[in-house]
Amino acid sequence: MLTETASPAPEVLTSVPPTPLVDFFSAAEARIDRWRQLSAVVRAWHATPAHDSSSDRLFAEAVVLFSEVAPLEAFFAYPGPRLMSATEQALAERNAGVTVRVIQHISSALLSGVYRYDASAWDPLQEETARATDLLPPDLQAGNGHKPYFETLVVTPTEPAQWERARHEMKRLRRTDDPFAYEVVQVGTFEDAVLGTICNYNLQAVVIRDGFEYRSRHDVPVLREFLHRHLNGAEAATAPGSLAMALARAVKRYRPELDVYLLTDRAVEALAGSEEAAPLRRIFHNVEEPMELHLAILDGIADRYETPYFNNLKKYAQRPIGTFHALPIARGKSVFRSNWIRDMGHFYGTNLFLAESSATTGGLDSLLEPTGTIKKAQDLTARAFGARRAYFATNGTSTSNKIVVQAICRPGDIVIVDRNCHKSHHYGLVLAGAQPYYVEAYPLLSYSMYGGVPLLSIKAALLNCLAQGTLDRVRAIDLTNCTFDGHMYNTVRVMQECLAIKPDLVFLWDEAWFGFARFNAFHRRRTAMGAAATLTARFRDPAYRAQYQQAAAAAGPIDASNLRLLTMPLLPDPDRVRIRVYQTCSTHKSMSALRQGSMILVWDEDFHHVEGAFEEAFFTHTSTSPNLQIIASLDVARRQMELEGYELTMRAAEIAFRIRREVNGHPVISRYFHITTPAEMVPLGLRASGIVDYGRPHSTWKEVVDAWDRDEFALDPTRLTLVCGSAGFDGTQFKSLLAERFDIQVNKTSRNSVLLQTNINNTRSDAALLVKALAELSREIDQRLDRGGGAERARFTSRVRSLIEDVPDLPDFSRFHDVFRDDPGGRANIGHMRDAFFMAYDAANCEYLKLASSEVDERLANGPDLVSANFVIPYPPGFPIMVPGQVVTPQTIAFMRKLDVKEIHGYHAEQGLKLLTPQALAAHGARAGR
Ligand SMILES: Cc1ncc(COP(=O)(O)O)c(C=O)c1O
Repeated sequence: MLTETASPAPEVLTSVPPTPLVDFFSAAEARIDRWRQLSAVVRAWHATPAHDSSSDRLFAEAVVLFSEVAPLEAFFAYPGPRLMSATEQALAERNAGVTVRVIQHISSALLSGVYRYDASAWDPLQEETARATDLLPPDLQAGNGHKPYFETLVVTPTEPAQWERARHEMKRLRRTDDPFAYEVVQVGTFEDAVLGTICNYNLQAVVIRDGFEYRSRHDVPVLREFLHRHLNGAEAATAPGSLAMALARAVKRYRPELDVYLLTDRAVEALAGSEEAAPLRRIFHNVEEPMELHLAILDGIADRYETPYFNNLKKYAQRPIGTFHALPIARGKSVFRSNWIRDMGHFYGTNLFLAESSATTGGLDSLLEPTGTIKKAQDLTARAFGARRAYFATNGTSTSNKIVVQAICRPGDIVIVDRNCHKSHHYGLVLAGAQPYYVEAYPLLSYSMYGGVPLLSIKAALLNCLAQGTLDRVRAIDLTNCTFDGHMYNTVRVMQECLAIKPDLVFLWDEAWFGFARFNAFHRRRTAMGAAATLTARFRDPAYRAQYQQAAAAAGPIDASNLRLLTMPLLPDPDRVRIRVYQTCSTHKSMSALRQGSMILVWDEDFHHVEGAFEEAFFTHTSTSPNLQIIASLDVARRQMELEGYELTMRAAEIAFRIRREVNGHPVISRYFHITTPAEMVPLGLRASGIVDYGRPHSTWKEVVDAWDRDEFALDPTRLTLVCGSAGFDGTQFKSLLAERFDIQVNKTSRNSVLLQTNINNTRSDAALLVKALAELSREIDQRLDRGGGAERARFTSRVRSLIEDVPDLPDFSRFHDVFRDDPGGRANIGHMRDAFFMAYDAANCEYLKLASSEVDERLANGPDLVSANFVIPYPPGFPIMVPGQVVTPQTIAFMRKLDVKEIHGYHAEQGLKLLTPQALAAHGARAGR
């Protein structure tokens, strides 16, 4: 029942012009925003006396806002036709009292999600109208409380006049013991079905009834704009008879997690057996089995809702179990009975202890040899993330990377690897005995960071190996996607072109930060698994063969002297190419998993060749006491992403875009702070679209999508590099300031920036907190400069210049010392890093030089070479500026001397640089014959 009275509207809201709908990235967020605006405007209208001059203006504003939001509501069950026409009528009658009550009610129900379980949300006018219980969601009618709620889109050729009856009939199928409750949304055309899929994040199932039209019934420009972001001309050209299957494919491409059902007159048996039916969960012969359809819809949700390992752990925790194994904390008795550590028990609660065990029986399964609930949870993960296989890791992606590197590499193999990748890759290579061929990412000197490795450099590395006769030893290409700072590779293009040079290459994509991307309709195209699926389909397509022959003829032979290979787009031979892709992701970094929860996702057509090695690698690196709670959280994180990942990741992106717009466009904040744009983070040569920034006035969203499809690199908008050097703060200083004064934590720092990240945890309130903090700091700087006069301004300018302009050169990888190379002086930067690494275990092979000492400069100028004995990895940025066996250059020393971070792994200031002695190097060279 609607009881609240209309509260006065905040003036400010009504005076800020609403963001145009097309400027929203997420249609769902656009809709919520409109309801919020509408609510504020009608409150102001209601609070204004009718004779006041602003009353007419506010009323007109309300009418416009309502007319904008109304077409979007066709794609949602709530508020539904009844509440929408009640609102429309109240507005038509200029009845401010009723309008404000209905709109405020709808708006707050949408924000709180109360309509999912509370009958009064669906019927706020019950005092004025008879209660129509048959219009309520089924679980509410049945009084079943809080069942998880979702919506089903029905695409139907019938006339809208018949829709209500059809909805009613579907409702009658519902039973009190259904585990989930759903409402039906009907649309009548292909385009409206796609719009529903885009806009309605509550959708979990799509029922397609054959025979509908193509063109949308809503001739609304903003809807057409949303549609054009996602549909290309290909679908428009679809023949009428195949619209249903084209729609099924379009829905699955945009949101692969949705269940799609087809109701058709066609020969369903033949269709069911064809490849064409792959996107369909089930096919029904017309409407002959409505109850079966209802049950199938619920079953589809149950499949995604299921968390086999988590459920079992909960069951285990409730059983009365006596433990005699080596885990005293299990069941919590040692904690709750203690005189001294009971507070730990109170802090964590009993379930944590009841759910602890070292057992692998009783349904708990073993991570090291999963055959039960862990195996099932991993299989569900593979499905959810679009992989062929998935493995859980409980010691972070640091472990996942080492597992993959060891599984695919043997001693002597060459791996083309970004020198800036996470240290786990470098250590993995040492352990596996594989030789790194370091390739360099493009530098972003102004921000003291690296981008990604250009495809040209990767292809050049492959051709260098071809020239050197070592191409057959190149096992893998190992890259970070996206990078810490948000550079997303064109995974499709990189793999496609490299496979043209060596068709059996394995790719390891470290997607530590990027696991969420599978569930965001925009990011997915840049993921490893997304690319594996795209390439598999492409190479299988009969039309590909002709494309390949044409491309191969244009590019010429795969030959080291054929320089066209570097610049021409290359296509692999369909008869030789293998799709071998590994993706590691720190589930804990972007989804709801406990710290260290990580996943290895595999799409490897030749996995049978490495299965044994993979198992060995898994055994090598995995604890025999994995944490059960981490495993359970991986299972639950998967459930969440399959059911609400689309909504959450689209919102995280929308929040990021808002922060970008607000900071860079704010009249005061933008004087001192700036969030880097795609144009600043990706050089034009690697950004063929020429895209400058996200959203208007720089680009439309369609242009952004096209750029993400084509450009060599794109910037993940959720990774926000906030330049604070222009406000006079270095990264570390600013990080502390934000934490201490504003309770804002950031991801990492550079000399003049901090990295902020939006994820599925963030709300618009978080965005507001950040913007407010930046506005406050900017005003303080303004005041300080005003008060301080010329001297203060000079001090400020010089500090800013030092942070922004006086940046150290980034130390590119120099080379391995000749005694660690098979081709001293050659072009390929391949090294026997493992030899150097283990030489340093013998203290007699090492010497130490203080960083500041003149001897360092003397040796740099006149030799003998300074050769690093170990990895030196400053945190941040976290990549090795020296690796074992690497010749140290003046650039590296200059960078280290300027480095203002305290944590440098592998370097102890009191000892100095750890180097291999010239004598040890000479002896090693003689032994190795180099
Ligand atoms: C690119 C990259 N890979 C791997 C890791 C390690 O992941 P985890 O912290 O899950 O061990 C990190 C950590 O920051 C990373 O940035």
